[in-house]
Amino acid sequence: MAVHEARSREAEDLSVVPRFTRAGMLHVPKDRLPDHEMLPQTAYQIVMDEVMLDGNARFNLATFVTTWMDDEADRLYAATVDKNMIDKDEYPQTAEIESRCVRMLADLWNAPSSEASVGTSTTGSSEGCMLAGLALKRRWQQARRAAKKPADRPNIVMGGNVQVVWEKFANYWEVEPRYVPLEGDVFHLTPDRLLDHVDENTIGVVAVLGSTMDGSYEPVQEICATLDEYEASSGVHVPVHVDAASGGFIAPFVQPDLVWDFRLPRVVSIQSSGHKFGLVYPGVGWVLWRDAEHLPEDLVFHVNYLGGDMPTFALNFSRPGAQVVLQYYQFLRLGKEGFRAVQQACQDVAVHISRTLEAMPEFDVVSDGRELPVVTFSVSEAVTKYDVYDVSRKLREHGWLVPAYTMPPKREDLAVLRVVVRNGFSHDMAELFLRDLRTAVDWLDDLSGPMPREEQPSTFHH
Ligand SMILES: Cc1ncc(COP(=O)(O)O)c(C=O)c1O
Repeated sequence: MAVHEARSREAEDLSVVPRFTRAGMLHVPKDRLPDHEMLPQTAYQIVMDEVMLDGNARFNLATFVTTWMDDEADRLYAATVDKNMIDKDEYPQTAEIESRCVRMLADLWNAPSSEASVGTSTTGSSEGCMLAGLALKRRWQQARRAAKKPADRPNIVMGGNVQVVWEKFANYWEVEPRYVPLEGDVFHLTPDRLLDHVDENTIGVVAVLGSTMDGSYEPVQEICATLDEYEASSGVHVPVHVDAASGGFIAPFVQPDLVWDFRLPRVVSIQSSGHKFGLVYPGVGWVLWRDAEHLPEDLVFHVNYLGGDMPTFALNFSRPGAQVVLQYYQFLRLGKEGFRAVQQACQDVAVHISRTLEAMPEFDVVSDGRELPVVTFSVSEAVTKYDVYDVSRKLREHGWLVPAYTMPPKREDLAVLRVVVRNGFSHDMAELFLRDLRTAVDWLDDLSGPMPREEQPSTFHH
């Protein structure tokens, strides 16, 4: 029948028309809004084709940030993407979940009272660092003014290895950054040279639990003890903030006897990244104060918005709520035992990798994954044909993203490669990685002469 014939021709036409030859769809502007709308399928395909060119997140050994969650988490994510964290009046249950997470973390980090704990979710550790730093600065200013002393030259003391967020904090909020330089083979802040940099204008010392550079822990307890002695002799009280971006979710499970948290009275605040070893997709961090006294009330805004009084201490206003929901999911799903199992597995894989590297004459292991599950290693002095940047490039050919970079000032002579072992990086994947590393090194070793040098080796931004 004619009608049938017409329909089938139409169907045929539709099925064979490739999307990109649709009239008007041959050219899509990249840097300005297209003049007309397009079908959602076409837009989807264009965007998917672009993001496909990004690396495979599971092969990304550079990042500390979660790249895998289980199916239930993915479903929960999809079901809660529309929640705005700031609309606490509209989403009271999400707000309640946030409070529960804060109490759970206060308990995990041994706050004097988890019931009376004070804290908030943040966009990530960076926002947490800014908020904690601001609280330190404000408390220092208040104390100085109360004592009728000048409050115009605050400084903050930290190791030369701190993550860039602390440079930002000092720059944005006009606090003098004082970096304790690295020395010898210790790549983080140690108490011995700390006091050369501390004085009555110090708003606080930042101790890092899990250095971005090599995954090592700064000795928070000894740093506090040194500041105790300083206070006893000078009368100057210097509080400590712990940047536990990664370690906040590792140490309580893998090194439970390490004393680094609110058990130390001098530790006034701690921040950590839920989206790193907190095992949640990017977009969530946490910052907690030991008690309400350490978060100056005048930093907290009370917003009368959308129907209720809402206390907020945040740099952002609107922010996704789904990641907070996912954090709660992970807490419930894993519990302490589950977290311990996941993080221990990461550490076992990291230690396996570092042991294998130790047995390879081409490499020197700088950190072996026994603190954070992070392995850093350099090319040994005997190797003359290639360097860490060449190894990093060769590994990319196999899909592995392993950054190469130099250590901070005073140890810039040392260039390393870093592997971050995260949830989902199994022993099997580690074996594949080590096999590809071996292949890369054999290829480089077989060269008839040294690799040509770049004027400026590519740099990695932490
Ligand atoms: C020690 C440390 N502090 C702060 C940050 C910033 O964390 P985020 O990416 O969660 O903002 C990082 C990130 O790697 C880090 O390693």
